[in-house]
Amino acid sequence: MESKLKVSKQLIVSEVDCRLYGSFIEHLGRAVYTGIYQPNHVSSDEDGFRQDVIDLVKELDVPIIRYPGGNFVSGFQWEESVGDRDLRPKRLDLAWRSIETNEVGLQEFYKWTKKVNTEINMAVNLGTRGINAARNLVEYCNFEGDSYWANLRRAHGQAEPYQIKTWCLGNEMDGPWQIGAKTSEEYGRLAAETAKAMKLVDDSIELVVCGSSNSQMPTFGEWELDVLDHTYEYVDYLSLHQYYGNASNDLAEYLACSLDMDQFITGVVAMCDAIKAKKHSNKQLNLSFDEWNIWYHSNEADQAEKPWQVAPKLLEDHYNFEDALVLGCLLITLLKHADRVKIACLAQLVNVIAPIMTDENGNAWQQTIYFPFAQVSKYGRGQVLKPVVESDTYQTKSFDEVPYIETIAVLNEDELVVFAVNRSAEEVMNFVVSYDDISISELIEFSEISGFDIKAVNTSDKILIKPHASTQITLSSDTLQANLAPLSWNMIRCR
Ligand code: AHR
Repeated sequence: MESKLKVSKQLIVSEVDCRLYGSFIEHLGRAVYTGIYQPNHVSSDEDGFRQDVIDLVKELDVPIIRYPGGNFVSGFQWEESVGDRDLRPKRLDLAWRSIETNEVGLQEFYKWTKKVNTEINMAVNLGTRGINAARNLVEYCNFEGDSYWANLRRAHGQAEPYQIKTWCLGNEMDGPWQIGAKTSEEYGRLAAETAKAMKLVDDSIELVVCGSSNSQMPTFGEWELDVLDHTYEYVDYLSLHQYYGNASNDLAEYLACSLDMDQFITGVVAMCDAIKAKKHSNKQLNLSFDEWNIWYHSNEADQAEKPWQVAPKLLEDHYNFEDALVLGCLLITLLKHADRVKIACLAQLVNVIAPIMTDENGNAWQQTIYFPFAQVSKYGRGQVLKPVVESDTYQTKSFDEVPYIETIAVLNEDELVVFAVNRSAEEVMNFVVSYDDISISELIEFSEISGFDIKAVNTSDKILIKPHASTQITLSSDTLQANLAPLSWNMIRCR
């Protein structure tokens, strides 16, 4: 089987915004407690943070992390998560029916973000709270002058403002599961007025307004149009969330789910632009795909978990080889839309639907999905080149024409980097990349993830599924030809 990718340095989708490689830590399950934070663990540092987790997060190079939720944020009283730890109340977290001790709050999380070289993408509670709590939080975090909330931050030991730049106006406000769920009219008005107040406190911040919880919501489309009608002039990004899974155990269909992500993004971009036209606005609204991943393995186990525990084992998906291939396809799809998707958050980062897992009494380890993410985050920076692709296609239940190849190329100063997934389960793909106007003379690396049982997983003591070097490649000044193994994730770097 053959496929071709043609690229030119004249045809650029966009410069990649590094925030495309963001992630998410929610106060949910073991993400925080026994995930990033576990004072009694052998690897923990002076602040109680696990060094083994810090090391793996740093390797992923995530420039922004959404916090503290998720559904959790709709019950979050931020004032209870700062100041003297001994005075912080234990609360019922209604979203996940767990106990939140508030041992880790905004102050501690900020400290952790500095250890892993990232920034906070802070969500405010628009479920059970509103304008005042949100604008006070911006003042507490970002205000430099002499004011009540800024002084409280100082009294809590943080002299300099946290300077949080990106903020989410609530979370999944259309979802019936959300505490304080709203109609598009109710949410649109509240989001607009909250955005106004937050920007009056600090006009340098950027705001993400909630789109639908996923593209299958009954109000999808109407929600986006109504909410944007209310908020267009006050916000900077519209959010998208989507999770995929292979509950029906149909690999060909599962591998095609990135086509769904592609259509979802294209549709939401069209809605943003429709409101732009309606309002005769000169402003372009971009997208924040601030929750995306694979989530289905843990659904059954979650039903059995008892309520009202601290750090219950929730959403602990164990990812297999086919999940790594799908994650690769989804990453490539995000890159294809780098002109409009400026922020994306792999949901989530540690233990909860996560690339990184921890054993409470053992080590931190990488799931299968860790590796494609790490490679794209590290090398997928620079300019995304418009992909002109030729490929045979196959048909699935949901899609008439699924290309066997999913691919994209990124050009940075000295490297051309090509990412590709061969979706064929049977055939080696003869993959030819041509780049007439880019001068290439040397292969730096060709690595692949291939050859595993599709259901094989990594465990704390065996990281079986990870990239290995391949030699199946030849390079000339204007083309390269690589043999891509059946069902493989591939990264080719050359200069
Ligand atoms: O990421 C897990 C949950 O998925 C988040 O809390 C919520 O926003 C979404 O439904």
